[in-house]
Amino acid sequence: MCGIIGCIGVKNAPEVIYEGLKRLEYRGYDSAGCAFLSHGKITVVKREGRVEKLLPLLKGLKADMGIGHTRWATHGLPSDENAHPHSAGGISIVHNGIIENYLPLKEDLILKGVKFLSDTDSEVVAHLIAQNYDGDLLKALFKTVKLLKGSYALMAICEDEERIVVAKNKSPVILGLGDGQYFCASDEPALAGLADKISVLEDGDFAELTAHGVKIFDESLQPVSREVSPNLAVCQSLGLDGCPHYMLKELREVPMSIEATHKAFNSIEAKLSKALKDVTRIIITGCGTAYHASLIGKRYFECFARIPVECETAGELRYKNPVMDANTAVFAVSQSGETADTVEVARLALSMGARVIAVTNSRLSQLTRLATVVVPVASGPEICVCATKSYTGQITALYLSAIVLAGESLDGDRAKELLKIPPVCRSTLESLDMRSLAHVCASSTGVYFMGRDIDYAVALEGSLKLKEITYIPGEGYPSAELKHGTLALIDVNVASIFIITDPALAGKSENAVEQVLSRGGKVAVITTVKEVKERLSNKLQVILLPECDKYLSPLVTAVAIQTLAYKTAVVLKRDPDKPRNLAKSVTVE
Ligand code: M6R
Repeated sequence: MCGIIGCIGVKNAPEVIYEGLKRLEYRGYDSAGCAFLSHGKITVVKREGRVEKLLPLLKGLKADMGIGHTRWATHGLPSDENAHPHSAGGISIVHNGIIENYLPLKEDLILKGVKFLSDTDSEVVAHLIAQNYDGDLLKALFKTVKLLKGSYALMAICEDEERIVVAKNKSPVILGLGDGQYFCASDEPALAGLADKISVLEDGDFAELTAHGVKIFDESLQPVSREVSPNLAVCQSLGLDGCPHYMLKELREVPMSIEATHKAFNSIEAKLSKALKDVTRIIITGCGTAYHASLIGKRYFECFARIPVECETAGELRYKNPVMDANTAVFAVSQSGETADTVEVARLALSMGARVIAVTNSRLSQLTRLATVVVPVASGPEICVCATKSYTGQITALYLSAIVLAGESLDGDRAKELLKIPPVCRSTLESLDMRSLAHVCASSTGVYFMGRDIDYAVALEGSLKLKEITYIPGEGYPSAELKHGTLALIDVNVASIFIITDPALAGKSENAVEQVLSRGGKVAVITTVKEVKERLSNKLQVILLPECDKYLSPLVTAVAIQTLAYKTAVVLKRDPDKPRNLAKSVTVE
């Protein structure tokens, strides 16, 4: 959730840490802070709010090493005091994760006379390292983490030593290897342009960074080596490409995301087909948007391969003692590949002998490293907290996986239909005018998204998008269920948006439209069926999208619901890239 970064051997550590934190800000933006070591003295600067608030505080600071943190609050309100780094006895630390047993540890420290300055779980770590310090920071960190329960990526510096020490359990840490310059960070993009090579730490690992190099140690503090690979993030653009927000930029990349995911799939088709051999049970799981993509995947698997599929949010599934065995394939869908619940389901599945298929946009994530096979979502970096192009990438990856499971050819009709979709999305992005509907949503007290079958899955995502970035309450609902309760909520202040893509079900959805209209509710329809427009456009706003294959329609309707959410956020002057209370990567429970 939080983002952390460290550097040593650099010319201007404040600048490097600041730029790195800007890149990590999608992981949390409640507060930001850094600590620099220069001439045996640590200087800490930290502030509640966005990373940019640090800029004036960094002016004039000079150091060649430092650590930084951008926070998504878990324990303690967003405030200057709760901002990291936390310090004790000439030691400063930054932490990503949750120390689950921090309360008894804190009580113990208070009994020993320690004064706490924050409400965070992380501050206990600074005090424990200070208590365990005996002239060797790495050993003090080692002793400290033995006392911790929970998840942590920890970086620490000390006034008496010119090194950064690191510990990792469940939260990610990537080491960056440059020329006489060394880095550690929560993800690869934070090191773009800084390090050509990277190494990924494993759970239980420790690391030491000095101006002369990097050493990695295992859970017993024995030297260990980890694979070194090129840092691909250096080649990827993280700019806004002239867009006012990352959300708009990434929405415009939806067609690219579908094409690139399709292309990348060819390289894993054979591996996937082998991994799915003799599978009798399929489970698809994920959280938030990834779960909504999973629901669409379930339809593909069942329709194309006629295998029953269970689909459940990862946070639910992991605690249900799910039935999994050697003939089960678990598709774990996650943009980041770091979502704690999804990763834990994958671990559980492996421990029960099942095969894990990671559907992920992150080549270095925990999920990627755990999985039996990775189906790549090739959307490129997604900076906006709200998922757009990764959703369409996930749907594409699941569509192709279902074709493989069904034993169909990747040159067959279904794959040919997929090739038609990116140009359709491109033209939709160019011609779609959502301004008037965005104003309707912005002035509503609630917005319901409704659909049937596959459109219902998209309705869930439409509702999540709008809630996430506009804070307007609402729900995604099956059209047919409306009259069984939700209709009671309809009045003139509430908007209902129907998604209709299946001509065979259109008439049924239109009944629900009429039911809302006759209760005075505001209604709009997003459809790929031109007859629906002909029938309804004299009484309500109908957004007509290009006709397309029924199964692939979510890729086109996604563009519409994402654009609607974006435009509504703009009308309401919300920041779509950094919605309140959220973070992109949910690495805690
Ligand atoms: O990285 P993941 O795909 O595992 O993330 C899962 C959810 O946290 C994520 O999709 C979330 O719902 C998005 N912010 C929605 O836009």
